[in-house]
Amino acid sequence: MLVHEGHAQTMRFFTRANSDSYDLILRLATFGQDIAWKHEIIRAVTNRSQILELACGTGILSSMLAERGKSVTGIDLTFEYLLTLKRKLKAPIAQGTAEVLPYRDESFDAMVSSYLAKYVDVQKVVDECWRVLRPGGIVVFHDFTYPRGLILNLWNVYFELLRLAGRFVIPWKVVFGQLDDVIKKSDWVNQTISALKNDKFQNVNCRCYTAGTSAMVSAQKP
Ligand SMILES: C[S@@+](CC[C@H](N)C(=O)[O-])C[C@H]1O[C@@H](n2cnc3c(N)ncnc32)[C@H](O)[C@@H]1O
Repeated sequence: MLVHEGHAQTMRFFTRANSDSYDLILRLATFGQDIAWKHEIIRAVTNRSQILELACGTGILSSMLAERGKSVTGIDLTFEYLLTLKRKLKAPIAQGTAEVLPYRDESFDAMVSSYLAKYVDVQKVVDECWRVLRPGGIVVFHDFTYPRGLILNLWNVYFELLRLAGRFVIPWKVVFGQLDDVIKKSDWVNQTISALKNDKFQNVNCRCYTAGTSAMVSAQKP
């Protein structure tokens, strides 16, 4: 059931053709920064044990959390990405949207997501986080952001090169060609902060990383 334009974008971007190369492409395309950003997410949920990863994809973050002894559950819209996850991690997973979660109220100590916020109706996701989190639980959203200032010139050149690379790396042609536009049009940071405050989350916090090219928004359910 499609409920948001981001779902159509997701289906164009994440396919059977690119599920196996995703981990490598992400590492190369972010110059290794993805792993550093994921460490920040892990740091934010240090004292939590039962964690739901929204948009778990191929399971990079879920695997890192499981290696640290966390009990991880994953949900993602893309079936082929979940198949890739299943090959590396034994964890309960579900195919579905983060806007309507198939979990009971107050089931998790923490909910994390990386590269989801720009594709969803953030208010719906935050409402679901409130419902599914236990009191005292933490929610963390991480995604790319559109940088300001001098770095923007470098960012634009980088995406021109990526667009060029897409001519040769066919499974990634659509992503390499359109991701900059999706990031540019997304106001996920402000929307997420507003949604968290609407739902009475506390300790709403936002941190920017790598010259403003990504950000993490976190909060706690009282
Ligand atoms: C760039 S990948 C990120 C995967 C993983 N979080 C990571 O950090 O590597 C984006 C993922 O978001 C998933 N996704 C997009 N919209 C979604 C939604 N509404 N509900 C659940 N997953 C979604 C896609 O299927 C895709 O696997």
